[in-house]
Order: sequence, then C-alpha cells, then structure tokens
Amino acid sequence: MMSEAGVRVKVPASTANLGPGFDTLGMALSLYAWIEMKPADTTEIHLYGDQMLGIPTNKNNLIYEVAQSVFREAGVDLPELEISMYSDIPLTRGLGSSASAIVGTLVAANELIGAPLDQAKLFDMATALEKHPDNVGASLFGGLITAVWDGSHADYLRIEPPDDLEVLVAIPEFQLSTAKARQVLPEQVSLGDAVFNISRTSLFTAAMASGRLDLIRTAMKDRLHQPFRASLVPGMARILEEAAEHGALGAALSGAGPTLLALTDRREGKGTELEHFLLGVLNEQGIEARTIWLRPCTQGAQTLTITKGEQFIDSIKGEIRA
Ligand code: HSE
Repeated sequence: MMSEAGVRVKVPASTANLGPGFDTLGMALSLYAWIEMKPADTTEIHLYGDQMLGIPTNKNNLIYEVAQSVFREAGVDLPELEISMYSDIPLTRGLGSSASAIVGTLVAANELIGAPLDQAKLFDMATALEKHPDNVGASLFGGLITAVWDGSHADYLRIEPPDDLEVLVAIPEFQLSTAKARQVLPEQVSLGDAVFNISRTSLFTAAMASGRLDLIRTAMKDRLHQPFRASLVPGMARILEEAAEHGALGAALSGAGPTLLALTDRREGKGTELEHFLLGVLNEQGIEARTIWLRPCTQGAQTLTITKGEQFIDSIKGEIRA
C-alpha cells in the first residue's frame, strides 16, 4: 500500500574501519542527510545544499535507481516519484556520504510501500551496493557495528558507544575516491600483520562494549590499510602517531579518507589542543582542512512524520548545519 503523503527519512553519516577494523567496523556520527519521497505524476528529483552540486537530477540519480531496486524486490509496480534530498555529509571524504544516501533511500522507498522488506534484507541490499558492510551498517542501525559480509548476506552486532566518547574530524578540502584508496592496498598480507589487526579489532570492539576508553590508544592501530594510504593524505602518518600526545584517545583515517578522525573522552577537555594539532599538521603539508566536533549517533536511519502542506526544506531548516 503506497503512502500518498510520502515518507521522510533522516540518516546519519558514518566512519568506517576505526583503524584496524578494515571493512568490518563502522560507527554512525551526528552529521545527517534527509531524503523525502512522494508518489508523483512524473519523476522529479530536487537536491539541496552544497554537497549535492553536480549530482544528476534525472533517472540516472543513485537515489532513483536504489529506490527502483526496492520496488522490484518487493514486486511492486515502479511508481513515478518526487524525491528531495539535503545532505550535510561531505562527498568523497570518508564520512559515508554514499552509504547514507543508499540507506536513506532503501528505508524511504520501503516505508513508502508499507515496509514489506525487513531490516536484514535492506542491510544485504545496501551492502551489495557498497561492497562492504561497515558504513551502511552504521547508517542503518546507528551506534557502533561490527559486521561480516559473505558476498550475499551480512551479519552484524550493534554496540552502544560509551557516553563520554566524542569525535573530532579534520576534513581536507580535497576529495579522495574509495576506488583510488583501495587500489593502493596490497593483495596479500603477512600472517604477522593479520594477527596484529585481528587482535586490535577484537580489543577495540571489546573495549567499546565495556567502556574501557583507556584501551583505545593501543586498539586503534592498524597495519592493513593505513600505512599504504598514508601517501594519499600527507600528514596522516604523523597525526596517527602523535594524536594521543595531544589529547586523543586514538586516531584513524576515516574510512578510505581523506578525513582524519580522533576519538576523545569529553571529560578530559583537551579538544582545543587536539584541533590545533590536526589542522597544524595538515596545513604544514599545504592541505586546507576544516574540523567538526561530532558525537557517535546512537540512532540509525529513522522515518519522520511529514506535516501536511510543509515544504521539505522548510521542515528541516532548524536542524541543518548550513
Ligand atoms: N572499509 C572501506 C575502506 C570504507 O576502507 O575502503 C570505505 O568507505
């Protein structure tokens, strides 16, 4: 049954890997995108905000294509749609912008037709599109997730991030595609490096689950991807090495980068020093960047109520950053 009033979904950004958990760990962040979908006579796509510049507004738009896949999977006739989207999540910076668009669209399209698909199915569809479950899992379920993908099905466990955890992201001006950041990775790794990462990923997950923030510094180290990606983000190696001396619990490349992420304990109040350190190191390398303080977002993609007669952009104006 099609909802005539339409559906609006708010979906969080995410960071993947958190250092050692390559392609398995993801955490939702308090930075958001909104997607609205309504049945229409002809398909129209409205994109708002600077992050959306240059994205197609015809039926080649990712959102439109992903919505069609939900209707096909549910065996529903493909409807014409009026789609609106606004995002505060910067594109190709390692903060899960495409994952949030995919998850927001899957949830909205599914809700529009009475939610015939369950969350597990939406997670599998999202992971098949992204090829790894970390960002999409975090955007769909919120919190911190650890996930496994076998090529057709994803299993996951969601952990509530500790209350005192804060996240500082330093977002470079330049873009870095995930494809490029994966091309630099080796096909094979040594047993020693595999053990190094398995042990730290396990420790990180257990430390988060039990609130042991003191273990984050050791647990966030990685040998599988960051050393190879360091050349793509000048200054990164020094930030990962020294951030803990400037107030971070630990630091990592956010997803495939180029954003750098530092976790902090908000009770320690060392944010200003850390922010100066991150920006200073990047600026020394000639990289312009901006910082944003975020919190882990404990809620995944959520469906919002649409008030009759209210315009999409007016209704989210109080919540957006721009
Ligand atoms: N786990 C992925 C990677 C995340 O590091 O390539 C990309 O968004």
